[in-house]
Amino acid sequence: MFSKLCVLGVGLIGGSIAKTARRQGLVKSIVGWGREEDRVNLQTAQQLGVIDAFYLDLADAVHHADIIVIATPVAASEQIFTLLKPYWSRSVVYFDVGSTKVNVVHAAAKVFGSVPENFIPAHPIAGAERSGVSAAVDDLFAHKRIILTPLVNTNTTMLDKIKRFWLHMGATVTLMDAQYHDHVLAATSHFPHLLAFALVNLLGHKDEQSEIFAYAAGGFKDFTRIASSDPSMWEAICFANKQEIIALIEQFQAELTTMQQMLLDDDHQQFFTTLTYANQARQRFLTQVEITMSKSQTFQVQPGGKLVGDARVPGDKSMSHRSIMLGALADGVTHVTGFLEAEDALATLQAFRDMGVEIEGPTEGKVTIYGVGKHGLQAPKAPLYLGNSGTSMRLLSGLLAGQSFDSVLTGDASLSGRPMKRVTDPLARMGAEIQTTENGTAPLVITGKAGQLQAIDYVMPIASAQVKSCLLLAGMYAQGETRVTEPAPTRDHTERMLTGFSYAVERTGSTAVISSDGRLTAMDIDVPSDISSAAFFLVGASIAPGSDVVLRHVGINPTRTGVIDILRLMGANIEVLNVKDVGGEPVADLHVVYSPLTGIDIPEDLVPLAIDEFPVLFVAAACASGQTRLSGAEELRVKESDRIQVMADGLQMLGADAQPTPDGMIINGGKLAGGVVNSHGDHRIAMAFSIAALRAEGMITIHDCTNVNTSFPEFKELAKSLGLLLECIDAQG
Ligand code: S3P
Repeated sequence: MFSKLCVLGVGLIGGSIAKTARRQGLVKSIVGWGREEDRVNLQTAQQLGVIDAFYLDLADAVHHADIIVIATPVAASEQIFTLLKPYWSRSVVYFDVGSTKVNVVHAAAKVFGSVPENFIPAHPIAGAERSGVSAAVDDLFAHKRIILTPLVNTNTTMLDKIKRFWLHMGATVTLMDAQYHDHVLAATSHFPHLLAFALVNLLGHKDEQSEIFAYAAGGFKDFTRIASSDPSMWEAICFANKQEIIALIEQFQAELTTMQQMLLDDDHQQFFTTLTYANQARQRFLTQVEITMSKSQTFQVQPGGKLVGDARVPGDKSMSHRSIMLGALADGVTHVTGFLEAEDALATLQAFRDMGVEIEGPTEGKVTIYGVGKHGLQAPKAPLYLGNSGTSMRLLSGLLAGQSFDSVLTGDASLSGRPMKRVTDPLARMGAEIQTTENGTAPLVITGKAGQLQAIDYVMPIASAQVKSCLLLAGMYAQGETRVTEPAPTRDHTERMLTGFSYAVERTGSTAVISSDGRLTAMDIDVPSDISSAAFFLVGASIAPGSDVVLRHVGINPTRTGVIDILRLMGANIEVLNVKDVGGEPVADLHVVYSPLTGIDIPEDLVPLAIDEFPVLFVAAACASGQTRLSGAEELRVKESDRIQVMADGLQMLGADAQPTPDGMIINGGKLAGGVVNSHGDHRIAMAFSIAALRAEGMITIHDCTNVNTSFPEFKELAKSLGLLLECIDAQG
């Protein structure tokens, strides 16, 4: 990738970058630079094989280097830029690793007049208490986050090169503004270090008088671990970011005063609430760490190939969720076939088991639900954990708002970052009591308001089937007629399935109306294949010459077939065969044959009807001739990941011309190269990039693919059986 790496400052971070880059074969040779006082350290680095050679003269060190990392202390930034200035070359990529970014950017601007376009400010969040080159390792950055804070004038080609460099080092790359970086890092790193130092400072002096440390144990050791870090480094960081830190000191003083007051007032209740909140917040953090550190799957897909064969993709996710929810509330026994045995639908199934519903299966897609009736759910003993599933959380919030018990809904890091106000606001208008975090996200703490919900007439500001379904489920427990109007048609499985369970939902124009009169009568449900899963093969076969695929028994509810319409507008050859009605839902076999695609302006009215298929439709657009433009799809930014940004980043990594816009993307079709992309834990992005390999010129490596299990665990096997050259690698963090 690069020829010569020059490391300015060969300590823990600089040395670890050198070691990892060497192990990964990202550079041919590595040299180090330091001052006279660093000579011994540099000799050690050379002896350890971390660097091939070292120089005390900067001109010699940077000679012929094509990538230079500034790994010296942040306080020295201005000095280093001044030293580098006479040798600065426009063809070299420079990046730093400082823990603060605004001061580094200012230093560069001061020395150069403006920040050079080939300097990429970077911060790998991978420190340790140890320091020095002997502590350097070749896996320090595996599953760690690297934050890049490019400026408006940053050279995008060089930025991409650095992104790829860090992805190969095993890190997850995030882009943010330098100011925001310093704001966030002050709270999560700089201020906690200051606190640890302050506490040990206070107690250290007490210990000198009365030897209290003799009685300190694990808790004290854990809390004060980071006070063992390098004092000179932390002095520099704290001063470099002092405005942010001073603000946090003030907030923390207020927090301590509040807790002191609770003790003075004997306010056990408030005190307990504070501790409980903190306890839960830490749990949320630990879950996030576990996810980034956990065994994560990487897909490696060889370029080329075609898709040929006959396949049945797994059951529809939306219908699987709803079959459990309505089956549980019904009187009688509901038999489900074709149930999606994937993590999202299983999260819903487990939640209902936790509320006392007896459910058998799933075995080979068969589930038997012994309905408890509309008022038969029992209080769960613990928070209901819904993993990655937005549908579970949003629909359950409506259902649980009107129960006679309280409940708490939690989810993984992605779900805990997704907006919930869109459901809790209208539910609050119905009289529901649901607490979210300050940001309007989960956990959702629901106080059951049995018999107290009032119907509302709600015109949804966004076209969302989850919001509509949530309110219809709440409406089953509200006094009066709940009316929900959608701004554009969205999937209507809830309405259709309620009708199947003999529960009246009236539909007039774009308004669905429900009331609490009525009961659900058990039924048998045949869940068809999920068109959202079929979409990967509809696109794959359309872009790979020689492809010919039949997908059996796919749900083609008109509120879901936007992907077929869009692909056909682009010139795809898709036949819809053997259409039939299965339990109130239209089902068909889809026959797709390769056909060259052409870019289009995607009609906005098709957006909600293809909302989950855009990751793979972006791939289709990148392989089409001409330009494809998507607008009116800002909802994509709040799905399992920001699907506009993550897809644009990945497509750009593969050399595609994909420009994200606030509400869509502009893609000029062309060639796709191989490369490394990150799915950001988003199942549909992982699968979309796998499909892209059919038309790529090199291998595509996709990190963070474990979540494919949330909707399509059979994807790897099925895709391989149709001809995709996919390998799955398990990597331990
Ligand atoms: C779903 C609705 C859609 C969709 C999601 C499933 C559902 O979400 O993206 O995958 O089952 O109701 P929105 O309602 O947020 O658009």
